Amino acid sequence: MARETWATRFGFILAAVGSAVGLGNIWRFPFITGQEGGSAFLLVYLLFIALIGFPAILVEFVIGRRTERNPVGALRDLGSGIWQYVGWLFVITGFVILAYYSVVAGWFLRYMLIGITDGYAAGAADPEAAELLFGSVSTGLDSLLFHAIFMAFVIAIVAAGIRSGIEVAVKVMVPAIIVLLLGLAAYGFTLDASTEAYAYYLSPDFGVIAENWTSILPAAAGQAFFTLSLGMGVMITYASYLGEDRNLAEDAGIIAGLDTLIAVIVGFVVFPFLFAAGLSPGDGGAGEIFVSLTAAFTEIPAGRVIGIVFFAMVGIAALSSAISILEVVTSYLVDEWNLKRVPAAAGLGVAIFLLGVPVTVDLIFLDLLDLFADGVLLVLGALLLAIFVGWVIPEVARDELEQGIGDLGGLGTAWIWAVRVPIVVVVFVSLYLGVLD
Ligand code: PFF
Ligand code: NA
Repeated sequence: MARETWATRFGFILAAVGSAVGLGNIWRFPFITGQEGGSAFLLVYLLFIALIGFPAILVEFVIGRRTERNPVGALRDLGSGIWQYVGWLFVITGFVILAYYSVVAGWFLRYMLIGITDGYAAGAADPEAAELLFGSVSTGLDSLLFHAIFMAFVIAIVAAGIRSGIEVAVKVMVPAIIVLLLGLAAYGFTLDASTEAYAYYLSPDFGVIAENWTSILPAAAGQAFFTLSLGMGVMITYASYLGEDRNLAEDAGIIAGLDTLIAVIVGFVVFPFLFAAGLSPGDGGAGEIFVSLTAAFTEIPAGRVIGIVFFAMVGIAALSSAISILEVVTSYLVDEWNLKRVPAAAGLGVAIFLLGVPVTVDLIFLDLLDLFADGVLLVLGALLLAIFVGWVIPEVARDELEQGIGDLGGLGTAWIWAVRVPIVVVVFVSLYLGVLD
């Protein structure tokens, strides 16, 4: 059977945007920004998206389109020696990330339902009640159940295939995310607290950067890779279904641009909510956004509806990302082991579900997996790909990039050097500082 391809260019871009836009933008980005000092972090992050994120998307795109294979097969085709095995790292990373990603996504689904059935008042009477609510959502049977429900959706979409599963799903989901988010941002703008919130968010304090760069740098680099779905073969896999040559640089620009725009807009939503409830974005970590947002949803006008819309939007965004991760590992089994798509997706989905179970028991596993995946696995994956493309197969890579664009001249050389040096340096420094930490 011929390998599947996307039906339209638009479908491919939406799928990649759907993968990029997810919990990374809505859950991780605000809490990391809060933790790392607000706008100071934002500035470094934006710089990294342009400097290393954009070239790194192209690295994955050229590998995928060139080989038309899953990441394991792709690297085996292109590389020799140790490079043949790098694809394996991506399969492992996919398992680890999706396992906890699904658990967290399940919490958002649960909070959406709580809004519909009870409203958020129960959790907001006082901070302790909000913590208690979060505790009951995030651990135990509830957490397990919604983790299972979320994985069932992920499996169903991936099992239905590239065109009739992923492409159809993202054509609905991505526009929905954008519309809901813009509505929420417009609402946030009407809140009195928005001025103060925007100020916090938008005025970089260079003193903070100078003081905390050893933690801002690795956090911003890790977030840049995470948010663009880089370093684990998602963009290799999605580009492998292209089937025709078109301007990959343009596509990569749209994807990086939209993901960044959405992350930045999320800040315009979340921070006014928090400030309106008299809360400051501190470093309460992963659960904080739930605790403080539920409190905010009881303070602000029409908070219950806003809360439901917010949590629904996050659920959709998480789903459009999670399918890309399951697709990486599924494509491996389909391409390399000739398994049928349905059993492959289902079997892998169940295995990943099981790996996520400990997270529903104790949040310590969430921090461990997130730290390991983002601080080590993704960064390492992106580093190895950059070295491979920049130093081992630069001619092939450049030739592939120029398919569908034409002779890039100096720009092509600039891209190769952006891959050769900045990505490698930033990743090494980040890994080093991260290990020191
Ligand atoms: N980019 C996704 C987000 O920002 O939520 C997360 C992600 C998806 C990371 C896929 C890695 C990945 F392979
Ligand atoms: Na993202």
